[in-house]
Amino acid sequence: MTIRISGTGGALPDKILTNSELEKTVDTSDAWIRERTGIGARHIAQNETVASLAAEACRKALSDAGRNAEDVELILVASTSSEMLLPCIACQVQSETGAVNAAAFDINAACAGFLFALQTANAYIASGIYRNALVVGAEVLSRIVDWKDRSTCVLFGDGAGAVFAEACDEEGMGIRAMLQGSDGRRGVVLQCRAGHYTETDHELFPYKDPFIHMDGSEVYKFAVRTIPECIEQVLEQAGLKACDIDLYILHQANIRIIGSIAKRLGVDEDRFPHNLEHVGNTSSAAIPLLLDELNKSGKIKRGAKLVLSGFGAGLTYGACVMRW
Ligand code: ACO
Repeated sequence: MTIRISGTGGALPDKILTNSELEKTVDTSDAWIRERTGIGARHIAQNETVASLAAEACRKALSDAGRNAEDVELILVASTSSEMLLPCIACQVQSETGAVNAAAFDINAACAGFLFALQTANAYIASGIYRNALVVGAEVLSRIVDWKDRSTCVLFGDGAGAVFAEACDEEGMGIRAMLQGSDGRRGVVLQCRAGHYTETDHELFPYKDPFIHMDGSEVYKFAVRTIPECIEQVLEQAGLKACDIDLYILHQANIRIIGSIAKRLGVDEDRFPHNLEHVGNTSSAAIPLLLDELNKSGKIKRGAKLVLSGFGAGLTYGACVMRW
């Protein structure tokens, strides 16, 4: 028994912030941001919250799957940027969507969070505890970004993506292999304090403001070394070669990272779709948002072989192989 994705949904805040608008507030340029990252614009939450975006994405995923909120047995929300410590985002989503029969909880594994949540859903469903799950990545990173720090504020955006995943026993379909990993020893390279915890000294995490601090080049090196190895291992588990995969749906952090991973795998970049041009890096929402765009535009055909892979703060990373 494995799981297949039978519906997808996405939600983006109404407000769009372009690179040109950012030029007016920080010492940067549209040319620098596009050339170094591939990002052209991002969506920024105003009235939206992590939970309201997540709930909108879930409603769309349920509608795409042709299911009702009452059918949902598990809600898993991956996020790093909840406005609320309690209740968790997944319980807020349950309340907003009316998925009254579900168990609901959050997972924090930063940009790899959606994959960690999908693996968790897979484990619950494969073991027969639940038959389906809403798996969500949702972020309002704009509230934990220092808008005076040009090395981070140009990168991130807000949004949510959701999938409805259900038990699948059709031979060869659904998730074929999955892999996760973490390297907590290198967690210092990407850190952010909780907003209420700015007074206390912490040996490893010196920044006292509640904003994202990142050693971009260390994260970059980590991604381009770890992700190709992780993908090769998961392909081996699935008995496939890199050239067998139709689409690689990677975390949308930087177009140069995606290009480098394609090169290391020896696969044409055409098979690495991206949407970071108009949404930026939405952390745990990036993979399900892109998946939804591709699904809704008919670019993922039934039976297509996909690799999903992400990496982020923690440090965390993961990949999975699935047949759509
Ligand atoms: N505009 C203009 N100049 C800038 C900007 C900016 N926005 N930001 C940095 N610079 C300058 C730097 O100050 C530096 O100037 P200097 O040479 O005078 O010192 C120069 O540009 C080059 O800076 P680098 O940091 O070397 O630029 P690089 O090409 O490495 O790109 C980037 C930086 C985009 C952050 C890249 O390292 C990257 O993408 N890293 C990975 C980030 C990532 O993937 N994060 C994902 C996880 S996120 C999560 O888990 C929440």
